[in-house]
Amino acid sequence: GITRHYKFNIQMQNVTRLCQTKSIMTVNGEFPGPRIIAREGDRLIIKVVNNVQYNVTIHWHGVRQLRSGWADGPAYIAQCPIQTGQSYVYNFTIIGQRGTLFWHAHISWLRLTLYGPIVIFPKKGVAYPFPQPFKEIPILFGEWWKADTEKIINQSLQTGGAPNISDAYTINGLPGLLYNCSAKDTFKLKVKPGKTYLLRVINAALNDELFFSIANHNFTVVEVDAVYVKPFKTNTILITPGQTTNILLKAKHFHPNATFLMAARPYATGPASFDNSTTTGILEYHQPSNKTKKSNKFPLLKPRLPIFNDTTFATSFVKKIRSLANAKFPANVPKKVDKHFFFTVGLGLIPCPQNQTCQGPNNTKFAASVNNVSFVQPNIALLQSHYFNQSKGVYTTDFPANPPFKFNYTGTPPSNIFVTTGTKVVMLPFNTSVELVMQDTSIIGAESHPLHLHGFNFFVVGQGFGNYNSSKDPANFNLVDPAERNTVSVPSGGWVAIRFLADNPGVWFMHCHLEVHTSWGLKMAWMVMDGKGPKQKLPRPPADLPKC
Ligand code: C2O
Repeated sequence: GITRHYKFNIQMQNVTRLCQTKSIMTVNGEFPGPRIIAREGDRLIIKVVNNVQYNVTIHWHGVRQLRSGWADGPAYIAQCPIQTGQSYVYNFTIIGQRGTLFWHAHISWLRLTLYGPIVIFPKKGVAYPFPQPFKEIPILFGEWWKADTEKIINQSLQTGGAPNISDAYTINGLPGLLYNCSAKDTFKLKVKPGKTYLLRVINAALNDELFFSIANHNFTVVEVDAVYVKPFKTNTILITPGQTTNILLKAKHFHPNATFLMAARPYATGPASFDNSTTTGILEYHQPSNKTKKSNKFPLLKPRLPIFNDTTFATSFVKKIRSLANAKFPANVPKKVDKHFFFTVGLGLIPCPQNQTCQGPNNTKFAASVNNVSFVQPNIALLQSHYFNQSKGVYTTDFPANPPFKFNYTGTPPSNIFVTTGTKVVMLPFNTSVELVMQDTSIIGAESHPLHLHGFNFFVVGQGFGNYNSSKDPANFNLVDPAERNTVSVPSGGWVAIRFLADNPGVWFMHCHLEVHTSWGLKMAWMVMDGKGPKQKLPRPPADLPKC
């Protein structure tokens, strides 16, 4: 591979959407941010300079960061934030990955506007395992908020109330013509009849899983989370925040003036408030000459999306995602398991501090937890304190392997739904083979939780509804061609089972990729110890690693 250099200047920029101009944080003044391009095996050296009045970090979501945990990015986990006027060089190599990933800010809710695609091509001379597309186009979903989201989330954390919802979803930063004042702010994709396009779809939205579809067109799904899958056809995809999905779109032989609407809107399972609006873009067929341009007006055809709570569609879509699992792209599913974990994920409450009024139910604060532990962000990066053996007062290693109490997760919740708080991690010896079952508790909100694991790809070996049954369910696990990914949705009222090999020394964050749940504490960290071999150790931190 070669070395590629990028410079990310974090700076404010005025951007107008929905008839309102707002000063937002951007990389180099671009919104969405610049595209990172690499080939498998390349080294990326990205200098991030902070020119805004907020602390910033950047995360390279889905990049495995094999022995380069110092470049992973989550604030107070992998590094202290880059302060105003400071800079940090992220230095890492893309090992064994090709496909679509994305980068985003990883502190508070700054990823609202600080995000962009990472496009990883195969090694030189290596073809895709599907027909070479004519063109490749990133499609990024995001959210637009008129209000200041930093104020909103900080207020939510202080008062314990639920934060507001977004004002629009966006495709490549544009809300699309169904929103007020947005006819001009509509993403357009021009295609040539008969050609095949690779859409690199990224869900960078803060808080919502999305359905996506284009009128009168089918997609062929070929890759998820930068791993090839067995191709399958669908007219709609479901994509959770943190996931990426590569789809082939074949332009048909429509009249050269034909136009079609592409649309995305949420999949939501519960009564929890969400923005039920639709972002749209336009698929336009090329107009070969000016003559035909005005003469034929075609109606804009709209796609039919599943209804917002169509769990049947969601479940069947997810089940179709299978690894290629062939000689060239084997699925290295861990066959034996060294350590079993069972984590409950869901919402809960924390008591209101004395002399304060709180806006959660019955004067409490909303919280979220893993195994009833709501994660408290430390004041110094976990990776730093781990590396220098300074855990005291920063974290403890007693994160529970099982929930403190079990109940019927799909029935009436227990009367006490208070969570505990702490900065707890799981220690894993190098090369531990892990099986983790995550069970949604359905407490308070009926929502799916897109769990994202840093530092690894995992295999989704099982999934189901109701309570996980450890004596029955493993018999149905798929150890042959399960989806390999970095973000999986734990279904509302159900569970998923994943397996991964802890072959990457460092500290690895795992959290719900719905920003509101992360903020409320639905997060934890795995600490993978060094192995004995020279290639099994985490190197020293770079000299410019930010200090807290
Ligand atoms: Cu996409 Cu921890 O992040």
